[in-house]
Amino acid sequence: MGRGILVVFEGIDGAGKSTQVRLLTQSLRALGVPLRVDREPTDGPHGRRLRASATLGRLSAEEELELFILDRKEHVAGFIEPGLAAGEVVILDRYYFSNAAYQGSRGLDWKEILRRNEGFAPAPDVLLLLDLSIDASSERIHSRGEGGTEFEKRGVLERCSEIYAQIRHPALRRVDARQSVDLVAQACLAEVQLALVQRLVSEQHLTALELMRWVRRWMALPC
Ligand code: TYD
Repeated sequence: MGRGILVVFEGIDGAGKSTQVRLLTQSLRALGVPLRVDREPTDGPHGRRLRASATLGRLSAEEELELFILDRKEHVAGFIEPGLAAGEVVILDRYYFSNAAYQGSRGLDWKEILRRNEGFAPAPDVLLLLDLSIDASSERIHSRGEGGTEFEKRGVLERCSEIYAQIRHPALRRVDARQSVDLVAQACLAEVQLALVQRLVSEQHLTALELMRWVRRWMALPC
């Protein structure tokens, strides 16, 4: 296989991204698809500082933006690009659309944030936006026993949600996150399988018969 594909999960806190990342990873591994998975902010030094700032004291919006971008630049160079170059499916729990939504929610120009990120970060091939109302998301955050960090206050989530609603991207798929975990997982897996088949068709000039074999394999049907 040539270049891999980049799959990104986005959505407000409580939308179920982490669960869906785990389920998609398990399904693709079971199909024998080579992959790597990670989250942003990362567990590197900048990412750790950002997570700590959510509980220990908030940075200014500008400082936060710069730190998220630094964290992402290292992530692109050290993890995302190498995975794509090796032909893997790279799965991310949050990416630069969170940068637009969350730092945009603090008054920065979200379109400009997208443009800055697009200057260095590869575009996703599948962008799964888990859609959930603020009420449902707040309920989920609180039922986990979390009071909600500075990133998760209701007003912040409302503004994030408004920004997410305005984002346009060719790879964007909005998934209704009120559905059961299994239905959301099926919808996400189907989108990724479709992108894998499209990639195979465009890069390998498959015959119709070969294509059917691949589709059956991705759909876990006997060949
Ligand atoms: P989150 O995925 O909620 O991490 P955890 O599973 O540890 O709770 O991410 C932490 C917060 O970081 C989240 O509320 C959104 C925020 N964030 C930004 O503000 N900008 C960004 O660019 C990214 C990637 C995340």
